[in-house]
Amino acid sequence: MTPRIRAHLANLAPVIHGSIGDAELNGLGLGRDQVIDFSVNSNPFGPSPSAVKAAREAAWSHYPDDHATLLRRALAARNDVDERAVVVGNGSSELIWLIALAFLDPGDAVVTVGPTFGEYARATRIADGIVHEYRANATAGFAVDLTTVIERVEAVDARLVFLCNPNNPTGTLLPADDIRTLAQAVPRATVVVDEAYCPFVDDPPPTTPLLDRGNVVLLRSLTKDCALAGLRLGYALAPGDVCSALDRVRPPWSVNAVAQAAGLAAIRDEAHLERARAEVRQARVYLTAALGELGLRVLPSSANYLLVDVGNAAGVRARLLKHGVCVRDCTSFGLPEYVRIGMRPVTDCQRLVAAFAEIDNEIGGG
Ligand SMILES: Cc1ncc(COP(=O)(O)O)c(C=O)c1O
Repeated sequence: MTPRIRAHLANLAPVIHGSIGDAELNGLGLGRDQVIDFSVNSNPFGPSPSAVKAAREAAWSHYPDDHATLLRRALAARNDVDERAVVVGNGSSELIWLIALAFLDPGDAVVTVGPTFGEYARATRIADGIVHEYRANATAGFAVDLTTVIERVEAVDARLVFLCNPNNPTGTLLPADDIRTLAQAVPRATVVVDEAYCPFVDDPPPTTPLLDRGNVVLLRSLTKDCALAGLRLGYALAPGDVCSALDRVRPPWSVNAVAQAAGLAAIRDEAHLERARAEVRQARVYLTAALGELGLRVLPSSANYLLVDVGNAAGVRARLLKHGVCVRDCTSFGLPEYVRIGMRPVTDCQRLVAAFAEIDNEIGGG
């Protein structure tokens, strides 16, 4: 007899993420190198050459350092915090899951600030918590109404609040003062600020001082800015007792030796990151103007991706794929009219604009 899955997990829905899978490519008769992938939001230049070298040279025949000591020390120095305020994870996704696992009792309320990344809700449900979504309004450009968020957190006595900043997929950014206001207003809750895309923000909000409040956790990903998605690497900055709780529920050796070595090299290569930031900035300006000229509504974004109203996201994505470009259909975010476009070098963006122009007469149609 097959084992019975725990009752609260029986109807757990999968979360859809960006990137195009091999099955879909095969079905279309396309090779991976025939499609320019705008559906992911990573560093358009790939990993730093020094990270690639470090990964090649890493020793992986023995167990990795379970506490990622060298990397943790470097991250602590870089962020000017104590080493005990840093936990490294197998991507920031692992840390989202660990937070839910460590801090939620069955039935605990969690507020998400949506539309947003789906793993906050999934991790909450796996921990048997209850998700209460505040949802920003499309007509207000998805601006977050802080007062309503605070009221929602208080009304359900939430244990956790997940705030993605800048938000995926809308690109909206809350200033550090707003996050402080939120954390101050809801002292019984822990505010988890996912800063996965902050390295691409021109003027990132100075959030590290918020750690002094005690109820703020900052999540950072090294898979986006450092392009280590396949290696999996992220970290949390949090009060020491939070970090030690996360470490207690973390599977052993979850951050492999190759990722630790590559991560250490990657964060030292500031020039590589700066080059990517400059390219992202240029691509964002170009695409906002060029897609706007095609009559598309492009939402202002602080991040390395743009949300674009195309009328029928699934249809437009399918048509663009035939022209060799892939965008992220935002239907799974509850936004079936929007696609999200990750910034790539301007020459790639020109191909995207040409593809949009070719399907132009179909946009908004069935
Ligand atoms: C907002 C956000 N947070 C976290 C993640 C997961 O990142 P990682 O690769 O570090 O697990 C993603 C990935 O798409 C994301 O969009």
